[in-house]
Amino acid sequence: MSIVAQLDKGGKMTGIRELLPGIFVVDDICNVYLIRAADAVIAIDFGSGRAPDFLEEIRATHIDWVLHTHFHRDCCQGDRLAIEHGAKIAVPAAERKYFDQAEEFWKKTKLFPYHSVYSDRNCSTWNIHVNHDLNHGDVLRWRGIDIRAVETPGHTRGSLSYVVELTGKRIAFSGDLIFAPGKTMTYHDMHWNYLTPILSTGSDGTVTEMGMDQGFRPQIESVDRLLRENLDLILPAHGQPISEPASALTQLKDRVSDVYEAVLRKTVHTREPTPQWVMPHLIYLGNTSFGILGDNGKLFLLDYSYGNDDMIERGREEFGFGEIEIAYPTHFHPDHGGFKELLDEEPFEVWADSHVVDLLENPKRYKLPGLNPDPVKVDRALGEMEDFDWGGHHFTSFHFPCHTHYASGLLVELDGKRVLFCGDNVNLVQGRKLQGSFVPASRASIRKGFLPSAAKMIALRPDVLIAAHGRGAAYDVDGRMLASFGEWVRKLERALENLVGLPDYEWGIDREWVSIEPYISEGVRGEPLPLTVTVANHLPGRQEARVSLVAGKGWSVSPNEATLEIAGQGRMGAAFTLMPGTELSSGRHVVTASVEFAGRSWGEVAECVVDLK
Ligand SMILES: [Fe+2]
Ligand SMILES: [Fe+2]
Ligand SMILES: [Fe+2]
Repeated sequence: MSIVAQLDKGGKMTGIRELLPGIFVVDDICNVYLIRAADAVIAIDFGSGRAPDFLEEIRATHIDWVLHTHFHRDCCQGDRLAIEHGAKIAVPAAERKYFDQAEEFWKKTKLFPYHSVYSDRNCSTWNIHVNHDLNHGDVLRWRGIDIRAVETPGHTRGSLSYVVELTGKRIAFSGDLIFAPGKTMTYHDMHWNYLTPILSTGSDGTVTEMGMDQGFRPQIESVDRLLRENLDLILPAHGQPISEPASALTQLKDRVSDVYEAVLRKTVHTREPTPQWVMPHLIYLGNTSFGILGDNGKLFLLDYSYGNDDMIERGREEFGFGEIEIAYPTHFHPDHGGFKELLDEEPFEVWADSHVVDLLENPKRYKLPGLNPDPVKVDRALGEMEDFDWGGHHFTSFHFPCHTHYASGLLVELDGKRVLFCGDNVNLVQGRKLQGSFVPASRASIRKGFLPSAAKMIALRPDVLIAAHGRGAAYDVDGRMLASFGEWVRKLERALENLVGLPDYEWGIDREWVSIEPYISEGVRGEPLPLTVTVANHLPGRQEARVSLVAGKGWSVSPNEATLEIAGQGRMGAAFTLMPGTELSSGRHVVTASVEFAGRSWGEVAECVVDLK
């Protein structure tokens, strides 16, 4: 089924449909529901603001209220038109700040570097005046209709559903809690925090929980809460009306649990995190660092985390190695490529996979969690499967996109063994199996990342795998263990395919399917600023995208619009020039990209920030 057919059976954006007597849906960048009483309506969410155009058609003259289910831009970017129409705005109390303090949010949020991957940057770019806020259980009585707020976090932390009894039916306007029976539109919105859930068992048997602050459990609890409402109909912010809520919600609960089960890592730690020999030419140097000893007495350093210089010194004293000659980060995260402070103490060359180079040198170009706060200059960019010899050992560097797209692996023939340095891509979990950490916001892809990487790992025939966070653990691996990584990836893929409502699950894990580069730039009034908007087409066939930039008053943008013809499963960029006017105030400004794709408008999907001097 095509995207258009899946998202809206009516095809391209249509108009208004009456779902039940007096209940309408406007086809907008989200579903905008209108409940009519006499000549007035109440709107649930507001999309880009098309609803006023249809009032006459449904014999209404004004909008009394707009009730928001959550703060995402596709629900509220048209609120200006609602307010102009005289509508009052009501929002979830827990998310009020993303509406009436949106400008403060953008000014105060630390955008570089950051670790939270919560969707809060998908909020308004301007302050939306709020007349009322609602908590769980609050009732808004409007023209004899009781609209009750039910907390349904999962998609966002403070999402509300609104439950009403109308035309003899119990109806929930559920925001983005559910998209279709058993499905949420996206997966990434449920991934609230960088760290994936981990249950880690130490050598003494103690179990530590990490990364549990995610949307999975709240989502399941919210589904249970709606199940207890004995609903007849669910009207979601995206997708079609759901006429059998009980089975739709029960199926959703099972599928969220399946994804949670797939991403949960049960790891084991066996060693102390102190310098120690791992192999005759390999030393663990604390934290994520390993050193390979060359026959010249020098060191090839793999990964380095800020604050680990003491361990390197301690290793040098205990094991007698000389200077560091080359350092290689498996990826750009500062606990791997945070070489700056070490480089201040001693000179060495940095060699990195070509996919990692720009992230180290120009981190502010990217919207990614865990960027390196201090740029690092790379002395040698290594190509795919590039071989080199150093210190009497043979090395092969390759692109290894799992944990993030911008990651590499290094195979070293060391002491008669093929040793594969995996960075953060592969971990040993209970049962001598391998598993990865899945962070969609790090631009992780199953089809273009984890699956080919799993195959590559088998083809490289390693004897030993080294995980950067395994506390110096080197796992002797066999074919069965290597195959277990691919089995885990396919289990995760199946769970995502079942859960994600967008027509390709890869779309539902890619929050940055539209992105603006650079993400953070410093601008000067009166000087042009080049930007690129990149759109990923996760659909199998060619699609057209029309892109425009939305900047505030005082900015000019050229061109007004760009059209892209994007091949199936491809991505493409459109170049724009922004001109900040001389009258603009200094400080942070947010610019968004509004996108039409596959025949639908998706609203202001992506943003970037410009700090004006
Ligand atoms: Fe949403
Ligand atoms: Fe790491
Ligand atoms: Fe990492």
